[in-house]
Amino acid sequence: MEYMERIEKAALAVKEAIGTADVAVILGSGLGDFGNELENAQEIAYSDIPGFPHATVKGHAGKLICGQLAGKQVMMMSGRFHSYEGHSMEDVTLPIRVMARLGIKKLIVTNAAGGVNTDFSAGALMLITDFINLSGKNPLVGENLDAFGPRFPDMSNAYDKGLRALALECAKELKIDLKQGVYCWMSGPCYETPAEIRMVRILGADAVGMSTVPETIVAVHSGMQVLGVSCITNMAAGVLDQPINHEEVMETGRRVRGDFAALLTRVMEKMN
Ligand code: HPA
Repeated sequence: MEYMERIEKAALAVKEAIGTADVAVILGSGLGDFGNELENAQEIAYSDIPGFPHATVKGHAGKLICGQLAGKQVMMMSGRFHSYEGHSMEDVTLPIRVMARLGIKKLIVTNAAGGVNTDFSAGALMLITDFINLSGKNPLVGENLDAFGPRFPDMSNAYDKGLRALALECAKELKIDLKQGVYCWMSGPCYETPAEIRMVRILGADAVGMSTVPETIVAVHSGMQVLGVSCITNMAAGVLDQPINHEEVMETGRRVRGDFAALLTRVMEKMN
């Protein structure tokens, strides 16, 4: 199937099964069960969406859920596609094209990330102010999809200023200490070396992770407003004298889930 045809077919199937929404949320590790908070929820498994890739990471259910939360119609992606799993950039970002095709104008991306900024500690939430792409990949390489956006899209406001201000305001109301910083996309799947972390700190990164940037680029290209929030699940390699392991990452994600969910819920409530 041609890529545009895959997008169209998937969009049609999703619309028929669960409808569309005002805002979409990509659930990162730790927020996986946030979809349970949707009222009147309808869902569709990725495996039932024609043209959709299949999720492989354990703990990711692999489904789209649509329902109401905080007075908004919300579509959540439970399980995302990572390039380190071997998915092409087209596959990683196909769900975003489908959301755009369904008329969704706002996207909230969440993730687990390693803390590079030494003022952070594990368990912090970080509002993403900007990104650095060190993966060597870009999802817009290839023929431009003119139906969605221009060949050379501007990235100077990749994480929407208005939504960032709103998130800070909501964090303040909830007394959540929301950090801010630059997210650097590394390809993974191994965690970075201490030398790489020293390098990205010099380059201006505050956190590192293996997702989010391709989805952000495609959402911006598609004319969507993006809000990004990272859960700093661990300090990045070499910051502390201890190894990084996936279990710790998941455990910290679970620990801050309450604040994370409360923040996103308030943001959705106050979004126009
Ligand atoms: N590095 C990259 N990705 C991550 C990390 C990390 O330290 N923690 C959670 N995701």
